[in-house]
Amino acid sequence: MQLQIDQFKKSPNGQAKKTARVQGGEPTNDLVFSASTGTNDEVFPSILSLYVPKGSIVADVTYGNGVFWRDVPAGDYTLKASDLKNGVDCRKLPYEDESLDCVVFDPPYMHTPGGTAHSNHQNFEGYYQNNATSNGNAKYHEAVLELYFGGCREAYRVLKPEGILIVKCQDEVCANKQRLTHVEIVNELVMKGYIVEDLFVIVRNGKPGVSRLKKQYHARKNHSYFLVFKKRKKPVKPKKE
Ligand SMILES: C[S@@+](CC[C@H](N)C(=O)[O-])C[C@H]1O[C@@H](n2cnc3c(N)ncnc32)[C@H](O)[C@@H]1O
Repeated sequence: MQLQIDQFKKSPNGQAKKTARVQGGEPTNDLVFSASTGTNDEVFPSILSLYVPKGSIVADVTYGNGVFWRDVPAGDYTLKASDLKNGVDCRKLPYEDESLDCVVFDPPYMHTPGGTAHSNHQNFEGYYQNNATSNGNAKYHEAVLELYFGGCREAYRVLKPEGILIVKCQDEVCANKQRLTHVEIVNELVMKGYIVEDLFVIVRNGKPGVSRLKKQYHARKNHSYFLVFKKRKKPVKPKKE
């Protein structure tokens, strides 16, 4: 490997001009990519490898069945796993302020009005506990967003400055309206003291279907996202009106 430290360029007057550019490294395509086809457990470890140093204290606050962690070697991180199923609401975590290096957050990303929607196709309520969560007066997609925003607010409290928040989400069409959940989350979080670090697109294997179709109006979603945020070093000051 050849390391070139001082680079010189010709300036307009013909004199050599020292630039700050430093070259080094080796060519490779053995990289972590922003889009991949596969499953969450295949992608999640590479996101950790980029953003969360081994030995970090990580809270997965919607641990569910722990699928994300299937391929993460036990012992690489101090993992604190919790879920509403075990009585811990992600909006009221039992951790001290600024005590964690990373929070992983994967709440229900689809609304289940009345608890029965989608139930004949896939048991979303059983798996995601969408209605078990109290969401104030918000309904449908707004309830999904409210939980995302509430959980991210609580994550901000428990994260150390420059701590990492990894959020899993998927866009949805709600009442025939296209709701780009990932954009809505990014817009909210940058206002609330987070910096966007990365976005990963995961494309599902195979072709998801629908149980009944008369006419298709929007593209069937077959992708989801991992968003990576960093808590700002210093809190953002609220803007004066
Ligand atoms: C998409 S699943 C998470 C799957 C998980 N990442 C895995 O790898 O298995 C959503 C989870 O959020 C949990 N949940 C719903 N509302 C919650 C809340 N208010 N606080 C904490 N967990 C909640 C559900 O119980 C469910 O396990």
